[in-house]
Amino acid sequence: MHHERIAIIDYGSQYTRLITRRLRELGAFGLVYHGGITAAEIVGADLRGVILSGGPNSVLEPGAPDLDPAILSLGVPILGICYGQQLLARNLGGRLHRSTSREYGKAKIETSGGISVLFEGLPHLQTVWMSHGDHVEEAPPGFIVTAKTPTVPVAAMEDAARGIYALQFHPEVTHSSQGTPLLLNYLKRCGMLLDWNAGNFIDEQVKAMRAQVGSGTVVLGLSGGVDSSVAALLLHKAIGQQLTCVFVDHGLMRKDEMKQVQAYFAPFELNVIWVDASDEFLGALAGVTDPEQKRKIIGGKFIEVFEREAGKVKADFLGQGTTYPDVIESSGIGGAILVKSHHNVGGLPERMKLQLVEPLRELFKDEVRATGLVLGLPEEMNQRHPFPGPGLAVRLPGAITRERATILQNADAIFLQELRESGWYARTSQAFAVLLPVQTVGIMGDERTFEWMCALRAVTSEDFMTADWARLPHELLDRIAQRIVREVRGINRVVFDITSKPPATIEYE
Ligand code: XMP
Repeated sequence: MHHERIAIIDYGSQYTRLITRRLRELGAFGLVYHGGITAAEIVGADLRGVILSGGPNSVLEPGAPDLDPAILSLGVPILGICYGQQLLARNLGGRLHRSTSREYGKAKIETSGGISVLFEGLPHLQTVWMSHGDHVEEAPPGFIVTAKTPTVPVAAMEDAARGIYALQFHPEVTHSSQGTPLLLNYLKRCGMLLDWNAGNFIDEQVKAMRAQVGSGTVVLGLSGGVDSSVAALLLHKAIGQQLTCVFVDHGLMRKDEMKQVQAYFAPFELNVIWVDASDEFLGALAGVTDPEQKRKIIGGKFIEVFEREAGKVKADFLGQGTTYPDVIESSGIGGAILVKSHHNVGGLPERMKLQLVEPLRELFKDEVRATGLVLGLPEEMNQRHPFPGPGLAVRLPGAITRERATILQNADAIFLQELRESGWYARTSQAFAVLLPVQTVGIMGDERTFEWMCALRAVTSEDFMTADWARLPHELLDRIAQRIVREVRGINRVVFDITSKPPATIEYE
């Protein structure tokens, strides 16, 4: 069962994800498919349109990704963008111009001024974003040219009778001044209701999960992060007491994390098994300094503890807070060339031989948050920064002891509290303290001290693949440093990290 959908066929463009985002912002549900998909694989009563994305190839090269021609006969409006336009031209008898250089950046188009579905109601002159090598020289029979530039004779073309539209430029990029209204005109032609929102998503997903789970039971690892929290609430709404959550405290969470998550979830009456496994984890980590070894130990232990606790429930399904970017990244579609490297509990579903229930599989992060909001997840939980699976282990370079973990938790809590109170928490994407394995000399009162050094890390980031350090005000940094040294026994020096990613990473290990 699906919401009415636009299929976006990905030919490897870096903008494919952006197309999906733009559609969803307009209230239209778009899903990304591999370039090699066939008409039979995307057809369905819920299909309203097909968008062919851009891509890095030349359609004139042998072996370049092609289009299943049957897609053109599905009876839904087709929109080709850049490579997508060239594919349409080649398949339908147009003429292409092969280019050895790429045109990249802003350009001005002039619309033909005649009747056009896509350009209806839009200005005659527009700024657009171009990023292409080849272009269409002559539109295929049956098409009219609806826009041009001095160098691109067919900047846009359409055959309204067949419902095929194409643009050489990228309407999904904000530099295209009329990109959003263009996409909207296309969506209207598709007959989309534009009713994709969190409320409708929840209603549909509740039905879908009830159908999938039936009278079975689900176990879900609740970490207190946004994804697993929203997944838990959504499943709870759908199947109530058939859901059991397991929260594992590995001793390397933020200060009072388990207590806080308990308080946030108290009003929802979820079944949660709260497990304090900190002795077990810290014991296994004793003396380990190698970062990858730490991750392995924590990942392995997590599976062991989770399996033990989940075994008590005898569940039929494993719930997971997988989101759409996870799906796109791990399948390599959506122009995502970077493969996610941190699969903390990868292997859990296979080991436990449980079927997966993934209620957020089709949502982007902001949609997960919008869903959380409608489900009543407290704002503070809903807007949390991401927290890595191995927790403070990757913020404690060197050997981990309970004592060092506690010192770090205390410093981190002060940092986060000050950020929240000054409004900077929401203006940073991730912020935390790190306890460096370095002791330095200090002076407190009349006494010489020899204690740990603490680093503060605060970054802004779109996708955590790259990040910039946050320009926190000096007065704020001053207050935080003073409080940490004064209030946290064991730290006598605080430094602020001003490295971006790359070349540094966000975490320290
Ligand atoms: P880095 O340090 O690679 O971090 O710049 C990028 C993002 O990934 C998070 N991160 C992890 N998340 N398990 C996780 O679940 C891990 O092992 C891990 N390492 C880094 C990090 O917090 C940041 O958001």
